[in-house]
Amino acid sequence: MNDPQDFSFSRRRVLQAGMAAGVAATLGSSLATAASAPAKPGVLMRAIPSTGEKIPAVGVGTNAYGVTSAEELAELRKVLQAMPGLGGSLIDTAQAYGSSEEVIGKLLADLGNRDKFFLATKTPLAGDISGGAAVLDRSFRRLQVSRIDLLQIHNVYGLDELMPHFLDYKAAGKIRYIGISTSVDRQYEQMQAALAKHKFDFMQIDYSIGDRSAADTLLPMAQDKGIAVINNVPFGGRGRSYFPRVAGKALPDFAKDFDATTWAQFFLKYNLSHPAITAAIPGTTTLAYLEDNQAAGRGRMPDAGQRRKMEEFWDSLPA
Ligand SMILES: NC(=O)c1ccc[n+]([C@@H]2O[C@H](COP(=O)([O-])OP(=O)(O)OC[C@H]3O[C@@H](n4cnc5c(N)ncnc54)[C@H](OP(=O)(O)O)[C@@H]3O)[C@@H](O)[C@H]2O)c1
Repeated sequence: MNDPQDFSFSRRRVLQAGMAAGVAATLGSSLATAASAPAKPGVLMRAIPSTGEKIPAVGVGTNAYGVTSAEELAELRKVLQAMPGLGGSLIDTAQAYGSSEEVIGKLLADLGNRDKFFLATKTPLAGDISGGAAVLDRSFRRLQVSRIDLLQIHNVYGLDELMPHFLDYKAAGKIRYIGISTSVDRQYEQMQAALAKHKFDFMQIDYSIGDRSAADTLLPMAQDKGIAVINNVPFGGRGRSYFPRVAGKALPDFAKDFDATTWAQFFLKYNLSHPAITAAIPGTTTLAYLEDNQAAGRGRMPDAGQRRKMEEFWDSLPA
């Protein structure tokens, strides 16, 4: 039988096997990526379908890393210093996130731990992209790296203009994987067209307990086509996250059955237990959040029945 966490197998077979089997943990398997240290025991790993390489299933999102104050930078340094030790490796950033790429580049250079990370970034979200390869080079310069693990087209912008350069850079070994992102349902048709037109290793999309529409559209497509999925805005998104809605509320009793001890873990375990999801990237700006979010990649995951209970519970909460 397939490794239950090897999500390269087809949607039909996932359904046949049942989600409970689909989410049984493969823990501490070996990590083939040159970008990462060996997996920590107990850390949930997921395979990238195009190569079989496994990466830890909880990463960090960095759209709030474009900070300048010494205090905030010191906290981000703690996050990037501690992350490999906690078993995490995926950092997602973008040219559009202010100075986030520069901040990450400088912190990793200072810490000397770039090789412990699977580094993902994105080409511009808007503006002039006529510079071709020079547009991509900006990320290498800002991140202070000679190789980027995953380069993504941001929100489908510039797809046809930039794809030839993505392919050149992949052939030259400057980027290891090619991806494309969105975080809004109104772009799903464009995403589907892009995924049909070009070969992508990754798609990055929004999916969460409060916004499940990708489960009917892009997630099955990812499984059918063998594309890895990075799950952005797993808590609903910065500025509109789900935490205020559950503030002061106790976790439902059944959360203990899949080892969720905080709301962040409850939300992330919902995302990670969908068989199409390769990794989730919660926006993580403090060491305390990092510890909490990384813990979601350990222990039991909800099975199909528990996922239904989570949805019912969520849907019953006052808006
Ligand atoms: N189109 C795209 O490609 C696209 C679009 C959007 C996002 N993204 C990516 O997805 C990542 C995640 O999205 P996001 O950061 O907007 O939203 P998110 O991960 O859904 O939520 C972030 C919010 O959750 C809070 N938080 C994080 N960990 C927590 C914890 N353990 N306990 C309590 N609160 C916690 C943060 O608090 P604080 O406010 O205190 O930091 C922040 O307000 C981004 O950073 C970015 O890398 C990609």
